[in-house]
Amino acid sequence: MSAIESVLKESRVFQPNDDFVNNANISSDAYNALCNKANEDYEGFWADAARENLTWKKPFTQVLDESKAPFYKWFADGELNASYNCIDRHLIDKANKTAIIYEKDDGQSEHITYQQLHDSVCQFANGLKSLGVRKGDRVVIYMPMTAEAVIAMQACARIGAIHSVVFGGFSSGAVRDRIKDAEAKIIVTANESVRGGKFTPLKSTVDEALSHGDCTSVEKVIVLKRTDSDTPWNESHDLWWHDVIQGQASQCEPEWMNAEDPLFILYTSGSTGKPKGVQHSTGGYLLGGVLSMRWVFDYKSNDVFWCTADVGWITGHTFICYAPLAVGATQIVFEGVPTYPDASRFWQMIEKHKVTTFYTAPTAIRSLIKLGPDLPGKFDLSSLRLLGSVGEPINPEAWMWYYETVGQSRCPIVDTWWQTETGAHMIAPIPGAFSIKPGSCTLPLPGIMADIVDESGASVEQGKGGSLVIKRPFPSLLRTIWRDDARFASTYFPDEFGGKMYLAGDSAYRDEQGYIWIMGRIDDVLNVSGHRLGTMEIESALVANPLVAEAAVVGKPHDVKGEAVVAFVVLKGNRPEGDEAQKVAAELKSWVAHEIGKIAQPDDIRFGENLPKTRSGKIMRRLLRTLAKGETVTQDISTLENPHVMEQLSESI
Ligand code: WT7
Repeated sequence: MSAIESVLKESRVFQPNDDFVNNANISSDAYNALCNKANEDYEGFWADAARENLTWKKPFTQVLDESKAPFYKWFADGELNASYNCIDRHLIDKANKTAIIYEKDDGQSEHITYQQLHDSVCQFANGLKSLGVRKGDRVVIYMPMTAEAVIAMQACARIGAIHSVVFGGFSSGAVRDRIKDAEAKIIVTANESVRGGKFTPLKSTVDEALSHGDCTSVEKVIVLKRTDSDTPWNESHDLWWHDVIQGQASQCEPEWMNAEDPLFILYTSGSTGKPKGVQHSTGGYLLGGVLSMRWVFDYKSNDVFWCTADVGWITGHTFICYAPLAVGATQIVFEGVPTYPDASRFWQMIEKHKVTTFYTAPTAIRSLIKLGPDLPGKFDLSSLRLLGSVGEPINPEAWMWYYETVGQSRCPIVDTWWQTETGAHMIAPIPGAFSIKPGSCTLPLPGIMADIVDESGASVEQGKGGSLVIKRPFPSLLRTIWRDDARFASTYFPDEFGGKMYLAGDSAYRDEQGYIWIMGRIDDVLNVSGHRLGTMEIESALVANPLVAEAAVVGKPHDVKGEAVVAFVVLKGNRPEGDEAQKVAAELKSWVAHEIGKIAQPDDIRFGENLPKTRSGKIMRRLLRTLAKGETVTQDISTLENPHVMEQLSESI
């Protein structure tokens, strides 16, 4: 049964326990009051939230500026600094509180206090300044999951440089594209990453990205010496991290930023073209993160918060680099993987660090169920009080295991729906106020005017599927696509809906209680292990191979990854068979890994003399999806230009 089918059959409801309800930040009454306030006085609601939750250098007087819609502005005349909000404002009473518990791959851990974090961030910020980095300059961060990755991001925020973090699993081609698009001045990397006992050279990937000579904006490459291995070195532009901070002061006056100044760019996949640089603001973005911590994660000052994401994704930006620090939390930064040294690593770490709030992805849960369904029971998980899920719909079977075996039927699960573009939670339970249902992300947060609409933009009836939209602008929404305002407007505020509704790209429906159930993407975007990939991106990578004439990529359900990549390929020469087919398929898989990254590698490659097309030449993707699943084709193929290829393409090799 696919995840979506089992979600459709779900009817269980779970109430939070009394203890949780009595201590919750937001009671059911408080939730209703927040929603009423947002409905009655939308701008007042957000203005109060921004004043209460952020520290402003210069208070704002304007709230929402809709004059250039859909280029909305929030708190536009206010000034603040994100790093000041994440660090300095806690130094009065929390200088010695642990900000980061940094657990390395080998199990050693270090505690970094807010004061120490402050000092390290300032030193690195001063180092960047000494290299000529100024407000508005772009810095690409291609780092392993180390405390230094957070320090580098915070240092950029401190001096007003715009960071663009590139996930450490991306290849040199992806790094190069992002450097070029953002015209980055500095690259921050490490000689190697260490994950699951394996060492991966990051610095040489950066070198390869720069070797084409077209990354002309780059002035320096700063390299963290994470391991002792030999590192290829270019005297003209490489600098060691430890040399950059050498002798730098541990004080650095924050650059006071306009609330609308960009905080960062993060590239994400869409249905067309190259990944787009999602641009977030300073004020609105930070506000969204803080509210998610207080409302959804019910943040308490003695919590130990752990988000298992990588800083290369939005989840790591918001729930590692910014929001936990902005509320003064103690959080874990984990370098390793859930399966090393064995599949109990997460549970062992929860026991070791007395984690209270644990936030991970359904794909991780599913793989850990496979590897050791009873392992959590071997550890003391009594510190846990709240569990979170993110990245894709969670199937009820995985939900139940997470709830009973990890949370011991004591901890609410917050299934949080949001996106790179929204910056913070949008639809998610407020755990002390809501009952929860396995597979539903429940209701929109106060101030988030989510709806489900048909093609004309009209709300659909309860129980009917439609397109998920957000009808009013909200502070944490992306501001634009880096240097592509037109693509921003047409992608997210399409004319079909009057240019006024934010189109999320997901389909969803509401149940009789108004709870929202996400059904998946409506565009050509795949969700592989919670990672977002454009089918077009993989197709372009494939056709860039000299052997390939044409390629079409679709997803197929996968019990651990959620979705797996299937590629239908037409070669320039003859259709390969037998050993030859095996050989070419292996070659194309490693080609995609090299062009984009391992995460985009097809699981399954099928060769045909052609692709199924309509007489007008359109590839019939729906048909390919059926073939990918191995199901019998029931669609009408009489209009196909070339029906005989169907048999070829149904053969897995
Ligand atoms: C897409 C966004 C920001 C979270 C990390 C992924 C899917 C995300 C859920 C959820 C069902 C979810 C959606 C969304 N998604 N969370 N709780 N339930 N689907 O961010 O890479 O920008 O991907 O992930 O399809 O559009 P992203």
